[in-house]
Amino acid sequence: MKILAFAASNHPQSINQQLALSTARLLPQAKVETLQLDDYDLPVYSELREQALGVPAQVSAFLQRVAAADGLIVAFAEHNGSFTAAFKNLYDWASRAQRHIFQHKPALFLAAAPGPGGAKSVLQAAVSAAPYMGARLTGTVSVANFHQVFDPQVQLVKDSAVFIQLQQAALKLQQHIQQQAA
Ligand SMILES: Cc1cc2nc3c(=O)[nH]c(=O)nc-3n(C[C@H](O)[C@H](O)[C@H](O)COP(=O)(O)O)c2cc1C
Repeated sequence: MKILAFAASNHPQSINQQLALSTARLLPQAKVETLQLDDYDLPVYSELREQALGVPAQVSAFLQRVAAADGLIVAFAEHNGSFTAAFKNLYDWASRAQRHIFQHKPALFLAAAPGPGGAKSVLQAAVSAAPYMGARLTGTVSVANFHQVFDPQVQLVKDSAVFIQLQQAALKLQQHIQQQAA
């Protein structure tokens, strides 16, 4: 089973990237892959640019990474209560090539923030957008106070209540993938 786990953030030390990967690693049978949004550096989307450029190769490369996965773990960083500009820009470009960018894959949506809000606002936005993205949502987990609950040395959540939430959500994703394959 191949899981593509990544952050909807272009921060090189993204806390959401750490959360997505550490959650994927809770599934010992899974082959975990990741990607960095920074590798899909695109001009700001506009219809005129699309007419001039067509669909950039990075967009096709991103969609191929999604296509090759059995399931997705996407952790959304919150910027001003919503998606990061980097993710929204990639989403807009990718949706022109493939309207449902997550291609009806089972998907677990996460969101982490350093503060007490737990990036709940962007997580809600992602849940609302899931049908547009073509994500078969299997669960969501918001992680507040990230630096207090996450141990960077071992790359694991050390707060037991949050750890259990993530473990249960990861197992649910795995079950959905297995059911879909059966
Ligand atoms: C432009 C900007 C806006 C932000 N807005 C929010 C916000 O609305 N809510 C929040 O909890 N944190 C906000 N933050 C803090 C981010 O949650 C924090 O930078 C976090 O590390 C982003 O996740 P990442 O490390 O995965 O990129 C903001 C940060 C930036 C740079």
